[in-house]
This record gives sequence, C-alpha cells and structure tokens, in this order.
Amino acid sequence: MLLDVTSETLLQVFGRFHIVLLHLPIGLLPAMFVLEFGAAMLGRPIPKGALMTLAVMTALTAAAAFGSGLVLAEEKVASETLGLHKKFAIAMASCSLLLPILVWRSRRAPFRVALAASLALSIPTGHYGGDLSHKKGFLFKPLQRKAAAPHGAEQPTSSHGEPSPIPEQPELDPKPAGSEAPQTAAEIARYDRDIAPIMERCCTSCHNPQDLDGDLDLSSREAVLVGWGDGETIVEPGDPDASVLLESLGRPEDDEMRMPPADEDEQLTPEEIEKIRKWILTGCPE
Ligand code: HEC
Repeated sequence: MLLDVTSETLLQVFGRFHIVLLHLPIGLLPAMFVLEFGAAMLGRPIPKGALMTLAVMTALTAAAAFGSGLVLAEEKVASETLGLHKKFAIAMASCSLLLPILVWRSRRAPFRVALAASLALSIPTGHYGGDLSHKKGFLFKPLQRKAAAPHGAEQPTSSHGEPSPIPEQPELDPKPAGSEAPQTAAEIARYDRDIAPIMERCCTSCHNPQDLDGDLDLSSREAVLVGWGDGETIVEPGDPDASVLLESLGRPEDDEMRMPPADEDEQLTPEEIEKIRKWILTGCPE
C-alpha cells in the first residue's frame, strides 16, 4: 500500500488525534485539583515545582487538544452541537493556559479559581464533544429503554417494547418470507406505513431538524424529498439506482459514508433496504 504523505494528509491525521489528545488535560486537571485542594486541606501545601510541572503539562496538552480539534472540525459538518463544543473548548483552553502563568507568579487564589473553572468547563466541553462522536444522548440511552418498557407493554398499538407513534397495520403484512413478492397494490411501499418506522429506528437520531448530520433531515417524507435543498436531492422518484439515499445504505462497512454508520446498534435488514428501493421505484408515495 502506498502512503499519501503530504502536509495536508499529515495535518488531517493530527486533527484525528484530537480523540486521543483530548484525554490528557481531562486527566491532568482533576489530578492537579485533588493535589492542590487535598494538600491545602491537610495543611501541607505541595511544592511550587510540582504544581508548575502539572500546570505546564495541562496547558500544553490543552493547547494540543484545542489545535487538533480545530483541524478535525474542518472534516465535520457545522452544527449547533459543534458550535457549543467549540465555545466551551475555547473557554476551557483559555483557563488552562492561565494556570502555569498564575503558578509562576505565585497567584494562589486566582490559580485556584482558574483551576476550578477549567475543570468545571471540561464537563460541558466533553458533553458536547461526546454528542459529536457518539449519538446524542448515547450515555443515558440504556436507562431510557428500560424506563420505556412498562409503558410500551400497556400501549395497545405497539407490538415491540417502545410506544410507536405510527399505528401499525398488521392486516397488510402477510408476505411470504424470503420469496420475491409480486407488486400488488398492498405490496407498494408507503412512506407513513413502511418507511417512516425504519427511518425513525435507524436514521432520525442523527438526521432531524436539530442535528442535521450531513445537512440532512430525514424526519418526514417531505424532508427526505427535499434532500439538501436547491434541487440537490437524495432520492430520485422512480430511479432507485440514481438515489444517493439508497447508495448510502449499500456501502461496505468500512466506508465512512455507509448509512447507518457501521458502529451503530440499529442496522437495516436486507428486507428493509428492499422496501426503501421499492418505495423509490414506485415514485415515493405517501
Ligand atoms: C450516527 C449518526 C447517523 C445515523 C444513525 C445515520 N446517519 Fe446518515 N449521515 C451521518 C453523517 C455524520 C453524515 C455526513 C457524512 C459525511 O458527509 O461525511 C451522513 C450522511 C448521510 C447521507 C449523505 C451521504 C452522501 O453520500 O453524501 C445520507 C443519504 C444519509 N446520511 C442517510 C442516512 C440514512 C438513510 C440513515 C438511516 C438508515 C442514516 N443516514 C443514519 C450520520 C448518521
């Protein structure tokens, strides 16, 4: 394999190291916090040299994490979450850069304020950063699923654990498993009945009016038909093979543009992809 080593690709790799570098200040800040306040509580202040070492390392790693983050952001689509992550990161990196200066000038009280502020700011910074690299709400999702189960059981319209906003129509679903079914009226894929539930399970957590990953909203038939807007569409009614949406579903697992991304729990079954193909082929009916 030939390597494509240019200043541009090296810079891109530096940007991707953001996900490694960011952990360094996140580890150093609590260490310094515990040392500084723990020692104060014990009445045995730690030597300035030790504090200075930690403060310099924190400032340098925070700067490296911030710089690589700016490079990585070039690869991402601008979003509200990315904007918030950036704002908190600027505040956190600024506070961290003050630390060695304040230690050096023996300004103990301002140092403690800057230290506590950096540590506090690492929480929202990390939170929005996590939302960017994982799905929004990833952390507490297991709790939500469990909480939803008892309600779901009482919901007469839903046959799986979660309450489904779209009423199911089981009477229209007696298809022979595995065999190519003929295209009768009942077999035509309809958006509300067949496609919306698939989108809701696998796609709308990232593609909704708030998150707009890839600049796409997939939360309604209209939004799917609009695509990126200005005629840049992701479905060509009647022509599945010319539709970016279907193309993105068929990509191999190691392809970054594969949808849903390969590391997602919720994946499409071949039958579901076939349903989407049919829906596009028959002109994207409601
Ligand atoms: C974990 C979040 C996530 C999920 C889930 C997800 N997507 Fe995406 N999608 C993205 C991101 C991020 C991009 C932008 C990728 C890029 O441009 O590098 C994207 C881009 C796309 C694109 C544009 C592809 C292109 O070639 O430009 C389509 C179409 C798409 N997604 C459809 C879907 C569909 C359909 C589903 C559900 C089956 C889905 N996505 C699920 C995050 C997601």
